[in-house]
Amino acid sequence: MHPDIERILFTAEQIAARTRALGKRIAEDLAASAAKAGEDARAGEQAAAPAQSAAAQGGVPAQSAAAQGGVPAQNPAMPLAVCILKGSVPFFADLIRAIPLPLETEYIALSSYGAGTASSGAVHIGKDIEADVAGRDVLIVEDIVDSGRTLAFLCGHLAARRPRSVRVVTLLDKPSRRAVPFSPDYVGFAVDDVFVVGCGMDYAGRYRNLPYIGVLKPAVYGD
Ligand code: IMP
Ligand code: MG
Repeated sequence: MHPDIERILFTAEQIAARTRALGKRIAEDLAASAAKAGEDARAGEQAAAPAQSAAAQGGVPAQSAAAQGGVPAQNPAMPLAVCILKGSVPFFADLIRAIPLPLETEYIALSSYGAGTASSGAVHIGKDIEADVAGRDVLIVEDIVDSGRTLAFLCGHLAARRPRSVRVVTLLDKPSRRAVPFSPDYVGFAVDDVFVVGCGMDYAGRYRNLPYIGVLKPAVYGD
């Protein structure tokens, strides 16, 4: 164990097992959402082309709106998994490999913390996502939800671009620390109000590469 770590909260093995379980559940939910979108698109297509449905009932093969020169019913676009840089990188890398579905990945840099252990309150976008989110299922992947400000801000930021859905998965949640109302859809582990590092999470840029999640000794940050 690293000498700056007071105790290990979750081992690499526990994190890996939990990540696989989360991936399985998320994949089921995304697949259900895509199936529903397909049904909605087909229903929309039929509603937009009643004459074709009537023709189909009369034994003539139904043609798509596209073949008729109309607007084609969209296949549901691939889900978009969004990694919040930098802390979510290890969790994101493991999670997307536990989701056996076609998906696209994107990366966003947000900051609400300086070098200390308390949130500054303001959220700043360092690098925004480039993909079009309109009509898509978006999965935001976070390392830890603390005050809730980062995710509340990001969900609002993405919702303005008209996605079909926005879900949030976080490896860790500190529900006792909320400053704004926010509930993640999927949580790896809930933790008490302690400052943790490892598996992507840092203190002043350090400890991100620890394979486990541990509580940092308060002496390290001078409390
Ligand atoms: P929030 O906006 O207060 O929810 O804070 C979110 C961000 O603060 C997280 O994405 C982390 O980057 C950082 N953070 C919050 N708590 C911890 C912690 O215990 N260790 C390391 N980073 C943390
Ligand atoms: Mg983070």
